[in-house]
Amino acid sequence: MPQAIQITQYGGPEAMQLVEREVGAPGPGEIRIRHHAIGLNFIDVYQRTGLYKNPLPLTLGMEGAGVVEAVGEGVTHLQAGDRAAYASNPPGSYCDVRVMPAKCVCKLPDEIDFETGAAMMLKGLTVQYLLKKTLPAEGLQPGDHVLWHAAAGGVGLIACQWAKALGLQLIATAGSDAKCQLALEHGATHAINYRSENFVERVKDITGGKGVKVVYDSVGKDTFDGSLDVLRPFGLLASFGNASGPVPPFAPGILGTKGSLYITRGTLFTHIATREATQAMADDLFAVVKSGAVKIRIDQRYPLAEVAQAHVALEARNTTGCTILTL
Ligand SMILES: NC(=O)c1ccc[n+]([C@@H]2O[C@H](COP(=O)([O-])OP(=O)(O)OC[C@H]3O[C@@H](n4cnc5c(N)ncnc54)[C@H](OP(=O)(O)O)[C@@H]3O)[C@@H](O)[C@H]2O)c1
Repeated sequence: MPQAIQITQYGGPEAMQLVEREVGAPGPGEIRIRHHAIGLNFIDVYQRTGLYKNPLPLTLGMEGAGVVEAVGEGVTHLQAGDRAAYASNPPGSYCDVRVMPAKCVCKLPDEIDFETGAAMMLKGLTVQYLLKKTLPAEGLQPGDHVLWHAAAGGVGLIACQWAKALGLQLIATAGSDAKCQLALEHGATHAINYRSENFVERVKDITGGKGVKVVYDSVGKDTFDGSLDVLRPFGLLASFGNASGPVPPFAPGILGTKGSLYITRGTLFTHIATREATQAMADDLFAVVKSGAVKIRIDQRYPLAEVAQAHVALEARNTTGCTILTL
């Protein structure tokens, strides 16, 4: 019988239960996929706790890779037997087999294995839209400094490498000296342990007092004020997560007094709303992975049934790079 990890109410890691369920045939615009590996993401925590709400009961998980078993009416870009990978909304990847919308599923190039595919789609496509499409008004040029918080995590280590490939000087922050070292080994030009150092002062030093053109901030509450303080005039705060808690409400006037700043709060799911946009972004991601410019580092593997342990580790800041769930 097919298995899935579900929640029936929001809560801690213990809210996740392994259940058995029937999985039917795909309807129009859908596929059925059998997973070989599943990606773990911090958004899974927000959905488990109820910070991000979904109808219950809910099968968690938004990233996976496997083999297409069947395609529904109208699906032309995939066929049964194809290797495939995806970042998806709605959630539902914490399972062995599922039916899901085909539009967010891409064929996985032969050179990319299933574990890598499962680890990289949501995180890699996120780095793609941030570094390529979430830019200050005058864009980013080689040599420019950007600040990337939590740079030793799943999204972060991909960003360090991709930024280097683009010629950017990525200043990393991370929560330990070992994590800072990891960010440097993956292409960051500077790294700041923001638990022991004042990152605002360090960024000012590194940039000769000028500040950075963009801050990519997924930490949220704890870093928001400092992120505004390290931007140069007309700089952009790209807020994209809440690992430390959501950013509290603020008065827009603060953006004026700190230098006519811009702020945006993006989500991948706006960017991958259509099949064409998803494929174009995925092709860009596949190219940097196939070239070796971006290596997908998987530092933790947990069997699907032990997903609660994976959530505990992620929330405790005990992970680096990507985490996958195995079947
Ligand atoms: N908006 C979007 O489109 C989008 C898409 C994908 C991911 N995201 C966001 O990007 C971030 C990274 O995602 P990920 O899956 O790759 O996770 P991750 O970076 O591997 O893990 C989160 C990291 O956040 C840091 N952190 C800082 N304060 C924390 C706190 N109080 N509690 C827990 N962690 C804290 C930790 O690193 P340190 O110990 O180094 O501080 C931790 O390892 C998440 O915030 C996620 O929601 C957003």
